[in-house]
Amino acid sequence: ERQKHIRNFSIVAHIDHGKSTLADRILELTDTVSKREMQDQLLDTMDLERERGITIKLNAVALKYHAKDGETYIFHLIDTPGHVDFSYEVSRSLAACEGAVLVVDAAQGVEAQTLANVYLALDNDLEVLPVINKIDLPSAEPEKVRQQIEDEIGIDASEAVLASAKAGIGIEEILEQIVHNVPAPTGDLTAPLKALIFDSVYDDYRGVVLSVRVFEGTVKAGDRIRLMNSGTEYEVTEVGVNSPKPLATDVLMVGDVGYITASIKDIQDTRVGDTVTDASNPTAEAMSGYRKMTPMVYSGLYPTDNAKFNDLREALEKLQLNDAALTFDPESSQALGFGFRCGFLGLLHMDVVQERLEREFNLDLITTAPSVTYNVDLSDGTKQEVENPAEMPDASNIKAINEPYVNAQIMVPNDYVGAVMELCQKKRGIFETMEYLDDIRVNVIYHIPLSEIIYDFFDKLKSSTRGYASLDYELEDYRPSDLVKIDILLNGDKVDALSFISHRDFAAQRGREITAKLKEIIPRQNFEIPIQAAIGAKIIARTNIRAYRKDVTARIHTGDPDRRAKLLDKQKRGKKRMKSVGVVDVPQEAFMAVLQTG
Ligand code: GTP
Repeated sequence: ERQKHIRNFSIVAHIDHGKSTLADRILELTDTVSKREMQDQLLDTMDLERERGITIKLNAVALKYHAKDGETYIFHLIDTPGHVDFSYEVSRSLAACEGAVLVVDAAQGVEAQTLANVYLALDNDLEVLPVINKIDLPSAEPEKVRQQIEDEIGIDASEAVLASAKAGIGIEEILEQIVHNVPAPTGDLTAPLKALIFDSVYDDYRGVVLSVRVFEGTVKAGDRIRLMNSGTEYEVTEVGVNSPKPLATDVLMVGDVGYITASIKDIQDTRVGDTVTDASNPTAEAMSGYRKMTPMVYSGLYPTDNAKFNDLREALEKLQLNDAALTFDPESSQALGFGFRCGFLGLLHMDVVQERLEREFNLDLITTAPSVTYNVDLSDGTKQEVENPAEMPDASNIKAINEPYVNAQIMVPNDYVGAVMELCQKKRGIFETMEYLDDIRVNVIYHIPLSEIIYDFFDKLKSSTRGYASLDYELEDYRPSDLVKIDILLNGDKVDALSFISHRDFAAQRGREITAKLKEIIPRQNFEIPIQAAIGAKIIARTNIRAYRKDVTARIHTGDPDRRAKLLDKQKRGKKRMKSVGVVDVPQEAFMAVLQTG
C-alpha cells in the first residue's frame, strides 16, 4: 500500500558542501519543477537566503520518483541549513524523517558541522547515506574522504555515492539508495491522528500554516483537530504538500510530510514541537516535542520610530512562529525608548532576525551590540542574571562577575595550529588539548569566554587560517572573571544602549578604540560633540567630533540635478537605521562599533 512507497529524508552537510545544489538536481531529475521554472537553490525561498547564498530555514518538498524497480515512490525531502546558528532547524527536520543524506565535499572532507549534523541524525535513529560530492573538482580526493567518513564518523561508507551536484553526476544512484536503504515510515493508518508540528509560518490570508509529519492516522479538510499542549481546537480548512508550491491534497496520511491550515489567528496557541490530534478521538500521548533552545547572545531591538513599538511586538510574535529559537522580552532604554531584549543562537541568527523583521514586516530597527548573560554574585549574598550590560549593578555592590565559557573545537590543518593558538590566547582562551585527526588535520580544543567568540572570533579565525579552520562550540560553564562595565557618554550624556562589558585588562584599549570608531561613524553636526568612555565616574578615553563647516553642505546644493538627486537619495537612505539620542543622531553602526574593537 501507499505507506510502503513513502520515503522521508533530509539532506545534511557542513556549510557549502553542496546540499542546496543537490536538492536542486533531485527536483530536476524527478520533474518536480519544469526546466522553465528551475532556478538555482530553488528551496531557498527567502530573498535573504538567495542573496547570501545560505540556507536559513528548513524547507519540505514532496516529489515523485519512478524507481528502477518499476514502482513510483513519494519522497518528502527536507532541506536544512548548514550554519551552526541554525542547527535547531536541522534537529527539527530530522525528527520528521527516517533517513538523512549526508553530503561531504570531496575536497574539504569531514568538517565540524558534518560531525555535528551526523550526530543529530544518529540521535534520531536515522539511516545515514553518505554522499561524496564535488568529485568534479581537481582537488577532489574521494577515496581519502571515504576513509575519513569511516574513521571519524564511524559509519560504513563503502557504498557512498561519488557525486557532483553541479555536474549532475550520481544523482539517480542517490535516489535509488534512498528507495532501498531508507526505511518506509511505520505507524498505524487507522489509529487516531498523531502529527508533529516541526515548523510554522504566519500567512495573512490563511492564518498559521503548520508544517507537520503525520506519525499515525490521517487528516483532511473539515476534520476537527486539537493542538495537544495548548489544548485549543480548530477545524481544518486545507491540507496539502509543497511541491514546491503549496498544493492542496485530499488527505495527509500516516508517513506524510505536509501542511495543515485551520484559520488559526491566535499565534500564542501554536508552538513548534506540539502534537496535532483528532479532537473527538485524541491519541493517548503527545509526541515528545523538542528541547527548548537556550539563546547564546542577547541584544536590544528598538524601532527607530518609537511609535512602532506595537508593530515590532506583533512582528516578533509572527516571526517567532517561523523561528522557534528566537526569544524576546520587553525592555526600555533611556537612549532608545521602548524595545525588546532578544535572545539569539549566534550573531548570524541575530543578523538574520533583524533583516527579516525589516523586510517581511517593513520596520526600521536599531540593534544594540550583542551581549552574553552574566551571573553576578552581589555583596549581599544574592545572585543576579544580567542580559543587558546597562543593567550591570554598581561595582560597589558586586562580589564577583561570572561569565559563560564555551568548549571550542577548532579543526585546522597543522600548518595553522600556531596561528589558531595565538588567536585563542589573545581571546583569553585556556588551552585544553590538541589531537591529530590524520597526518594533516588537527583538532585544537580551548575553553574560551563566549563573549570573545561572539564578537569577531570566527572572522579572525578564518582570516588567520586562510579559511581552512572550522569552529564548533558548546556552552560549558560559568567562571569568575575580572570584568568591568564601560559606559559611553555622548555630549556629556550616558547612552545606556552603548554600555558594554570588558575584561579589565582590555578596558582602556577598548575604550580608546570605541571612542575613535564612534568618531568616524557618527555624522558631524553643527556643534562639537565630545565622546567619552568611562568606568563608573572615571573617564578612560575621550575624543571629539568636530562641528561641520558651513561650506561643505553648501556645495551639495549646487551642481547638476542628477548629482543632486543622487545625493538626496543617498541622504535618504542614510536616514535609515538612525536614532536621535538627546541632540545627537546616532546611526546603527555606532551600536555595533564595540564588535569591531578588541
Ligand atoms: P548552505 O545552504 O549555505 O548550507 O550551503 P549548501 O551546503 O547548500 O551549499 P550549496 O549547494 O549552496 O553549494 C555551495 C557552493 O558549492 C556553490 O557555489 C555550489 O555551486 C558549489 N557546488 C555544489 N555542488 C558542487 C559540485 O558538485 N561541484 C562543484 N565544483 N561545486 C559544487
